Amino acid sequence: MMNYQENVGLLTDPFGRQITYLRISVTDRCNFRCVYCMPPQGVPHVPHNRIMRYEEIVAFVQVAARQGIQKVRITGGEPLVRADLPRLVEMISAIEGIEEISLTTNGILLEKYASALASAGLRRVNVSLDTLSAEKFARITRGGELEKVLRGIAAAEACGLTPIKINTVIMRGINDDELIDLAKLTLDHPWILRFIELMPIENQQTWGDGFPPPGEIFMPVREVMDILQPLGLKEVDLAGDSGPAIPYRLEGGIGTVGFISPLTEQHFCQRCNRLRLTADGHLRPCLMSDVEIPILPALRGGEPILPLLQEAVNRKPASHQLARHVSPNGRCMIQIGG
Ligand code: 5AD
Ligand code: SF4
Repeated sequence: MMNYQENVGLLTDPFGRQITYLRISVTDRCNFRCVYCMPPQGVPHVPHNRIMRYEEIVAFVQVAARQGIQKVRITGGEPLVRADLPRLVEMISAIEGIEEISLTTNGILLEKYASALASAGLRRVNVSLDTLSAEKFARITRGGELEKVLRGIAAAEACGLTPIKINTVIMRGINDDELIDLAKLTLDHPWILRFIELMPIENQQTWGDGFPPPGEIFMPVREVMDILQPLGLKEVDLAGDSGPAIPYRLEGGIGTVGFISPLTEQHFCQRCNRLRLTADGHLRPCLMSDVEIPILPALRGGEPILPLLQEAVNRKPASHQLARHVSPNGRCMIQIGG
Protein backbone atom coordinates (compact mmCIF):
# COMPACT_ATOMS: atom_id res chain seq x y z
CA MET A 1 0.00 0.00 0.00
CA MET A 2 1.45 3.35 -0.98
CA ASN A 3 1.33 6.27 1.38
CA TYR A 4 -0.67 8.87 -0.50
CA GLN A 5 1.10 11.74 1.20
CA GLU A 6 4.36 10.82 -0.44
CA ASN A 7 2.66 11.13 -3.77
CA VAL A 8 1.16 14.56 -3.41
CA GLY A 9 2.22 16.55 -6.41
CA LEU A 10 2.66 13.58 -8.71
CA LEU A 11 0.21 15.19 -11.08
CA THR A 12 2.20 18.17 -12.25
CA ASP A 13 1.31 19.51 -15.66
CA PRO A 14 3.77 20.71 -18.32
CA PHE A 15 3.48 24.26 -16.95
CA GLY A 16 4.39 23.28 -13.41
CA ARG A 17 0.86 23.44 -12.01
CA GLN A 18 0.02 20.81 -9.41
CA ILE A 19 -3.31 19.18 -10.03
CA THR A 20 -4.98 18.49 -6.69
CA TYR A 21 -8.64 19.20 -7.41
CA LEU A 22 -11.14 17.07 -9.31
CA ARG A 23 -14.60 18.21 -10.39
CA ILE A 24 -16.91 15.30 -11.01
CA SER A 25 -20.11 15.76 -12.98
CA VAL A 26 -22.56 13.04 -11.93
CA THR A 27 -25.35 13.79 -14.39
CA ASP A 28 -26.07 15.83 -17.50
CA ARG A 29 -29.66 16.39 -16.35
CA CYS A 30 -31.08 19.34 -14.51
CA ASN A 31 -34.41 20.46 -13.10
CA PHE A 32 -33.64 24.04 -14.28
CA ARG A 33 -32.77 25.22 -17.79
CA CYS A 34 -30.70 28.33 -17.15
CA VAL A 35 -30.39 30.67 -20.11
CA TYR A 36 -26.57 30.73 -20.05
CA CYS A 37 -26.23 27.01 -19.54
CA MET A 38 -28.31 25.46 -22.30
CA PRO A 39 -30.38 26.43 -25.34
CA PRO A 40 -34.17 26.94 -24.92
CA GLN A 41 -34.96 23.62 -26.55
CA GLY A 42 -32.66 21.77 -24.09
CA VAL A 43 -29.96 19.26 -25.02
CA PRO A 44 -30.29 15.53 -25.66
CA HIS A 45 -29.53 13.39 -22.61
CA VAL A 46 -26.82 10.79 -22.54
CA PRO A 47 -28.41 7.33 -22.21
CA HIS A 48 -28.09 5.72 -18.78
CA ASN A 49 -25.66 3.02 -19.79
CA ARG A 50 -23.14 5.65 -20.88
CA ILE A 51 -23.29 7.51 -17.55
CA MET A 52 -20.61 6.53 -15.06
CA ARG A 53 -21.88 4.32 -12.26
CA TYR A 54 -20.95 5.35 -8.72
CA GLU A 55 -18.61 2.37 -8.41
CA GLU A 56 -16.82 3.48 -11.58
CA ILE A 57 -16.45 7.05 -10.32
CA VAL A 58 -15.06 5.72 -7.06
CA ALA A 59 -12.59 3.46 -8.87
CA PHE A 60 -11.29 6.48 -10.74
CA VAL A 61 -11.09 8.68 -7.64
CA GLN A 62 -9.08 5.98 -5.87
CA VAL A 63 -6.48 6.16 -8.61
CA ALA A 64 -6.56 9.96 -8.66
CA ALA A 65 -6.22 10.23 -4.87
CA ARG A 66 -3.07 8.12 -4.92
CA GLN A 67 -1.67 10.64 -7.42
CA GLY A 68 -2.34 13.64 -5.21
CA ILE A 69 -5.94 14.65 -5.82
CA GLN A 70 -7.08 15.99 -2.44
CA LYS A 71 -10.30 17.82 -3.13
CA VAL A 72 -13.38 16.68 -4.97
CA ARG A 73 -16.32 18.77 -6.06
CA ILE A 74 -19.50 17.15 -7.29
CA THR A 75 -21.35 18.98 -10.06
CA GLY A 76 -23.92 18.24 -12.78
CA GLY A 77 -26.17 19.18 -14.59
CA GLU A 78 -27.81 19.35 -11.20
CA PRO A 79 -26.11 16.70 -9.07
CA LEU A 80 -29.07 16.30 -6.70
CA VAL A 81 -31.33 14.97 -9.45
CA ARG A 82 -29.19 11.84 -9.53
CA ALA A 83 -30.59 9.09 -7.31
CA ASP A 84 -28.86 8.40 -4.03
CA LEU A 85 -26.16 11.07 -4.23
CA PRO A 86 -25.34 10.80 -0.49
CA ARG A 87 -24.20 7.23 -1.20
CA LEU A 88 -21.57 8.53 -3.63
CA VAL A 89 -20.48 11.21 -1.16
CA GLU A 90 -20.03 8.54 1.48
CA MET A 91 -17.99 6.33 -0.82
CA ILE A 92 -15.72 9.19 -1.87
CA SER A 93 -15.26 10.36 1.73
CA ALA A 94 -13.90 6.95 2.57
CA ILE A 95 -11.09 7.22 0.02
CA GLU A 96 -7.69 7.77 1.63
CA GLY A 97 -6.22 11.09 0.57
CA ILE A 98 -9.49 12.88 -0.18
CA GLU A 99 -9.58 15.71 2.31
CA GLU A 100 -12.65 17.57 1.23
CA ILE A 101 -15.81 16.94 -0.76
CA SER A 102 -18.07 19.79 -1.80
CA LEU A 103 -21.08 20.18 -4.06
CA THR A 104 -22.18 22.75 -6.62
CA THR A 105 -25.96 22.84 -6.81
CA ASN A 106 -28.84 25.02 -7.92
CA GLY A 107 -30.19 24.54 -4.39
CA ILE A 108 -33.72 23.55 -5.27
CA LEU A 109 -33.38 20.09 -3.70
CA LEU A 110 -31.10 21.10 -0.84
CA GLU A 111 -33.91 21.35 1.65
CA LYS A 112 -34.59 17.68 1.04
CA TYR A 113 -31.01 16.39 0.97
CA ALA A 114 -28.82 18.70 3.09
CA SER A 115 -28.98 16.55 6.17
CA ALA A 116 -28.24 13.25 4.39
CA LEU A 117 -25.37 14.89 2.50
CA ALA A 118 -23.84 16.28 5.67
CA SER A 119 -24.07 12.87 7.36
CA ALA A 120 -22.42 11.27 4.35
CA GLY A 121 -19.37 13.50 4.75
CA LEU A 122 -20.06 16.44 2.48
CA ARG A 123 -18.22 19.50 3.75
CA ARG A 124 -19.66 22.50 1.88
CA VAL A 125 -22.03 23.60 -0.87
CA ASN A 126 -21.90 26.25 -3.60
CA VAL A 127 -25.33 27.46 -4.62
CA SER A 128 -26.07 29.44 -7.78
CA LEU A 129 -28.06 32.62 -7.18
CA ASP A 130 -28.20 35.26 -9.88
CA THR A 131 -31.09 37.40 -8.69
CA LEU A 132 -33.24 38.18 -5.67
CA SER A 133 -36.36 38.71 -7.75
CA ALA A 134 -38.61 35.64 -7.87
CA GLU A 135 -39.96 36.64 -11.26
CA LYS A 136 -36.51 37.18 -12.76
CA PHE A 137 -35.25 33.98 -11.16
CA ALA A 138 -37.99 32.04 -12.91
CA ARG A 139 -37.03 33.63 -16.23
CA ILE A 140 -33.27 33.03 -15.90
CA THR A 141 -33.71 29.42 -14.79
CA ARG A 142 -36.72 28.91 -17.09
CA GLY A 143 -39.04 27.87 -14.29
CA GLY A 144 -37.04 27.73 -11.05
CA GLU A 145 -38.53 28.77 -7.73
CA LEU A 146 -36.41 31.29 -5.79
CA GLU A 147 -38.11 30.74 -2.41
CA LYS A 148 -37.31 27.06 -2.47
CA VAL A 149 -33.65 27.76 -3.23
CA LEU A 150 -33.45 30.20 -0.33
CA ARG A 151 -34.93 27.54 1.94
CA GLY A 152 -32.35 25.10 0.56
CA ILE A 153 -29.52 27.46 1.46
CA ALA A 154 -30.94 27.83 4.97
CA ALA A 155 -31.17 24.05 5.32
CA ALA A 156 -27.56 23.61 4.19
CA GLU A 157 -26.48 26.21 6.71
CA ALA A 158 -28.42 24.51 9.50
CA CYS A 159 -26.68 21.22 8.66
CA GLY A 160 -23.23 22.79 8.87
CA LEU A 161 -22.44 22.67 5.14
CA THR A 162 -20.59 25.93 5.66
CA PRO A 163 -19.28 28.37 4.74
CA ILE A 164 -21.97 28.64 2.09
CA LYS A 165 -20.64 29.86 -1.23
CA ILE A 166 -23.01 31.69 -3.55
CA ASN A 167 -22.22 31.88 -7.29
CA THR A 168 -23.64 34.84 -9.16
CA VAL A 169 -23.13 35.11 -12.91
CA ILE A 170 -22.86 38.78 -13.91
CA MET A 171 -25.24 39.65 -16.76
CA ARG A 172 -25.58 43.14 -18.15
CA GLY A 173 -29.17 44.08 -18.79
CA ILE A 174 -30.37 41.18 -16.63
CA ASN A 175 -29.02 41.38 -13.08
CA ASP A 176 -26.66 44.38 -13.23
CA ASP A 177 -29.34 46.44 -11.43
CA GLU A 178 -29.10 44.07 -8.45
CA LEU A 179 -25.36 43.81 -7.90
CA ILE A 180 -25.46 46.00 -4.81
CA ASP A 181 -28.43 44.14 -3.32
CA LEU A 182 -26.75 40.80 -3.97
CA ALA A 183 -23.46 41.97 -2.43
CA LYS A 184 -25.36 43.29 0.59
CA LEU A 185 -26.43 39.73 1.38
CA THR A 186 -22.98 39.45 2.98
CA LEU A 187 -23.85 42.17 5.48
CA ASP A 188 -26.00 39.78 7.48
CA HIS A 189 -25.09 36.34 6.14
CA PRO A 190 -21.66 34.74 6.65
CA TRP A 191 -21.64 33.72 2.99
CA ILE A 192 -18.87 33.76 0.43
CA LEU A 193 -20.50 35.43 -2.55
CA ARG A 194 -18.65 35.29 -5.86
CA PHE A 195 -19.49 37.31 -8.91
CA ILE A 196 -18.53 35.32 -12.01
CA GLU A 197 -17.90 36.65 -15.49
CA LEU A 198 -20.16 35.04 -18.06
CA MET A 199 -18.18 32.55 -20.09
CA PRO A 200 -19.01 32.03 -23.78
CA ILE A 201 -19.68 28.33 -23.58
CA GLU A 202 -22.25 27.38 -26.18
CA ASN A 203 -24.49 30.28 -25.16
CA GLN A 204 -23.95 32.82 -27.90
CA GLN A 205 -27.30 32.10 -29.60
CA THR A 206 -30.42 33.93 -28.48
CA TRP A 207 -31.57 33.35 -24.90
CA GLY A 208 -35.21 33.91 -25.79
CA ASP A 209 -37.81 36.67 -25.49
CA GLY A 210 -37.03 39.50 -23.11
CA PHE A 211 -33.26 38.90 -22.99
CA PRO A 212 -30.65 41.16 -24.57
CA PRO A 213 -28.59 39.75 -27.47
CA PRO A 214 -25.98 37.38 -25.93
CA GLY A 215 -23.13 39.52 -27.28
CA GLU A 216 -24.26 42.45 -25.10
CA ILE A 217 -24.62 40.59 -21.81
CA PHE A 218 -20.97 40.15 -20.80
CA MET A 219 -19.86 42.55 -18.09
CA PRO A 220 -16.33 42.51 -16.66
CA VAL A 221 -15.65 42.04 -12.95
CA ARG A 222 -13.86 45.39 -12.86
CA GLU A 223 -17.16 47.20 -13.49
CA VAL A 224 -18.86 45.31 -10.69
CA MET A 225 -16.05 46.27 -8.31
CA ASP A 226 -16.49 49.91 -9.28
CA ILE A 227 -20.21 49.70 -8.55
CA LEU A 228 -19.54 48.15 -5.13
CA GLN A 229 -16.71 50.51 -4.17
CA PRO A 230 -19.04 53.02 -2.42
CA LEU A 231 -20.06 50.21 -0.02
CA GLY A 232 -16.54 50.21 1.43
CA LEU A 233 -15.24 47.19 -0.47
CA LYS A 234 -11.86 46.11 0.97
CA GLU A 235 -9.61 43.17 0.22
CA VAL A 236 -9.37 40.73 3.12
CA ASP A 237 -6.43 38.58 3.93
CA LEU A 238 -7.87 35.17 4.66
CA ALA A 239 -5.63 32.27 5.53
CA GLY A 240 -5.95 29.23 3.35
CA ASP A 241 -7.13 28.51 -0.12
CA SER A 242 -9.76 30.89 -1.37
CA GLY A 243 -10.01 29.33 -4.83
CA PRO A 244 -10.07 31.48 -7.93
CA ALA A 245 -11.63 34.52 -6.19
CA ILE A 246 -9.72 36.99 -4.01
CA PRO A 247 -12.05 37.79 -1.11
CA TYR A 248 -13.24 41.30 -0.29
CA ARG A 249 -15.53 42.54 2.44
CA LEU A 250 -18.14 45.27 2.44
CA GLU A 251 -17.86 47.65 5.33
CA GLY A 252 -19.62 45.96 8.25
CA GLY A 253 -20.06 42.71 6.36
CA ILE A 254 -19.87 39.29 8.02
CA GLY A 255 -19.50 37.42 4.74
CA THR A 256 -17.18 38.09 1.83
CA VAL A 257 -17.57 39.12 -1.78
CA GLY A 258 -15.26 37.70 -4.44
CA PHE A 259 -14.77 38.11 -8.15
CA ILE A 260 -14.04 35.37 -10.64
CA SER A 261 -12.69 36.71 -13.87
CA PRO A 262 -11.70 33.93 -16.23
CA LEU A 263 -11.95 36.35 -19.15
CA THR A 264 -10.41 39.59 -17.99
CA GLU A 265 -7.75 38.46 -15.56
CA GLN A 266 -4.42 37.76 -17.22
CA HIS A 267 -3.12 35.23 -14.72
CA PHE A 268 -6.35 33.34 -14.07
CA CYS A 269 -5.19 30.12 -15.70
CA GLN A 270 -1.76 30.16 -14.05
CA ARG A 271 -3.35 29.10 -10.77
CA CYS A 272 -5.46 26.33 -12.29
CA ASN A 273 -5.19 23.17 -10.20
CA ARG A 274 -8.10 21.21 -11.59
CA LEU A 275 -9.28 18.44 -13.79
CA ARG A 276 -12.86 17.64 -14.77
CA LEU A 277 -14.62 14.33 -15.19
CA THR A 278 -17.85 14.42 -17.21
CA ALA A 279 -20.87 12.30 -16.34
CA ASP A 280 -20.22 10.15 -19.40
CA GLY A 281 -16.66 9.44 -18.35
CA HIS A 282 -14.44 11.90 -20.17
CA LEU A 283 -11.52 13.64 -18.51
CA ARG A 284 -11.50 17.26 -19.55
CA PRO A 285 -8.18 19.04 -18.99
CA CYS A 286 -9.67 22.52 -19.43
CA LEU A 287 -13.23 23.82 -19.06
CA MET A 288 -12.73 26.02 -22.09
CA SER A 289 -11.22 23.52 -24.47
CA ASP A 290 -12.94 20.66 -26.27
CA VAL A 291 -10.05 18.26 -25.62
CA GLU A 292 -11.33 15.19 -23.75
CA ILE A 293 -9.92 11.80 -22.82
CA PRO A 294 -12.48 8.98 -22.50
CA ILE A 295 -11.95 6.72 -19.49
CA LEU A 296 -15.12 4.63 -19.45
CA PRO A 297 -14.02 2.01 -22.00
CA ALA A 298 -10.82 1.40 -20.02
CA LEU A 299 -12.70 1.28 -16.70
CA ARG A 300 -15.26 -1.17 -18.08
CA GLY A 301 -12.61 -3.20 -19.86
CA GLY A 302 -10.46 -3.56 -16.76
CA GLU A 303 -7.57 -1.65 -18.30
CA PRO A 304 -5.26 0.68 -16.37
CA ILE A 305 -6.59 4.17 -15.72
CA LEU A 306 -3.44 5.90 -14.56
CA PRO A 307 -2.03 6.50 -18.08
CA LEU A 308 -5.27 8.25 -19.04
CA LEU A 309 -5.14 10.42 -15.94
CA GLN A 310 -1.56 11.34 -16.76
CA GLU A 311 -2.49 12.07 -20.36
CA ALA A 312 -5.23 14.44 -19.21
CA VAL A 313 -2.79 16.31 -16.97
CA ASN A 314 -0.20 16.44 -19.75
CA ARG A 315 -2.73 17.90 -22.12
CA LYS A 316 -3.74 20.80 -19.91
CA PRO A 317 -3.27 23.95 -21.97
CA ALA A 318 -1.31 26.87 -20.54
CA SER A 319 -4.49 28.92 -20.69
CA HIS A 320 -7.78 29.24 -22.51
CA GLN A 321 -7.90 30.97 -25.89
CA LEU A 322 -11.00 33.09 -25.37
CA ALA A 323 -9.13 36.33 -26.03
CA ARG A 324 -8.42 34.95 -29.49
CA HIS A 325 -12.10 34.07 -29.82
CA VAL A 326 -11.51 30.37 -29.60
CA SER A 327 -14.26 29.01 -27.38
CA PRO A 328 -15.38 25.43 -26.81
CA ASN A 329 -18.26 24.16 -28.88
CA GLY A 330 -18.42 20.49 -28.08
CA ARG A 331 -20.63 20.68 -24.99
CA CYS A 332 -22.92 23.12 -23.20
CA MET A 333 -22.17 24.02 -19.60
CA ILE A 334 -24.85 21.60 -18.38
CA GLN A 335 -22.85 18.77 -19.96
CA ILE A 336 -19.59 19.82 -18.31
CA GLY A 337 -20.68 20.95 -14.88
CA GLY A 338 -18.92 24.31 -14.63
N1 5AD B 1 -20.44 31.48 -17.37
C1 5AD B 1 -20.18 31.64 -16.06
N2 5AD B 1 -20.72 30.88 -15.10
C2 5AD B 1 -21.54 29.90 -15.48
N3 5AD B 1 -22.23 28.98 -14.78
C3 5AD B 1 -22.93 28.22 -15.63
N4 5AD B 1 -22.72 28.62 -16.90
C4 5AD B 1 -21.86 29.68 -16.83
C5 5AD B 1 -21.27 30.51 -17.79
N5 5AD B 1 -21.50 30.37 -19.09
C6 5AD B 1 -22.17 28.91 -13.32
C7 5AD B 1 -23.47 28.49 -12.69
C8 5AD B 1 -23.00 27.73 -11.49
C9 5AD B 1 -21.59 27.34 -11.77
C10 5AD B 1 -21.38 25.87 -11.82
O1 5AD B 1 -21.24 27.91 -12.99
O2 5AD B 1 -24.23 29.59 -12.31
O3 5AD B 1 -23.03 28.51 -10.33
FE1 SF4 C 1 -29.04 23.57 -14.19
FE2 SF4 C 1 -26.95 24.87 -13.13
FE3 SF4 C 1 -27.23 24.72 -15.75
FE4 SF4 C 1 -28.90 26.21 -14.34
S1 SF4 C 1 -26.68 26.54 -14.54
S2 SF4 C 1 -29.46 24.76 -15.98
S3 SF4 C 1 -29.10 25.04 -12.51
S4 SF4 C 1 -26.90 23.00 -14.40
